[in-house]
Amino acid sequence: MTLVDSHHETNLDPNTTESPAAANNATLAALEDRLLGLLDLQLTLKHIHWNVVGPAFIAVHEMLDEQVASVREMTDAVAERIATLRGVPVGTPEHLVSKRTWSDYALGRASVTDHMEALNRVYEGVISDHRHAMKVTAETDPVTEDLFIGQLADLELFQWFVRSHVDGQ
Ligand SMILES: [Fe+2]
Repeated sequence: MTLVDSHHETNLDPNTTESPAAANNATLAALEDRLLGLLDLQLTLKHIHWNVVGPAFIAVHEMLDEQVASVREMTDAVAERIATLRGVPVGTPEHLVSKRTWSDYALGRASVTDHMEALNRVYEGVISDHRHAMKVTAETDPVTEDLFIGQLADLELFQWFVRSHVDGQ
């Protein structure tokens, strides 16, 4: 092998705008952001499960536990994808509160309608951020993109369930 050949083999593809390391960092950043979002969501869902009141209490109370179970599985999958890509999944409360970019859920004991309107807005934020992460990872890591696509199908389904408890939606 000549020196010229060797040099040619180590050249980056001119069509590649980012190095593999930069792509992996972007993937990890997207995953870490979504880990925060899903940790926050699962806690918020339980909070509503405990505090919702009114005639449709039991339907909403039980619906929310099914969503908690699913979101906990999503959280686990995102954290383990971070570890798989040699990142460090951080799931401590202080980290979550210091890094999240949204406000804490505001309602305490409240009606089904009030909680479902508020939860609908929570899902809007989570889904919007998940879709952004999906677009980023479409460029950097299609396996992670696929994980987000699958989770979005369930998150959007859950948002429909929540909307059904809000009048006229
Ligand atoms: Fe419970």
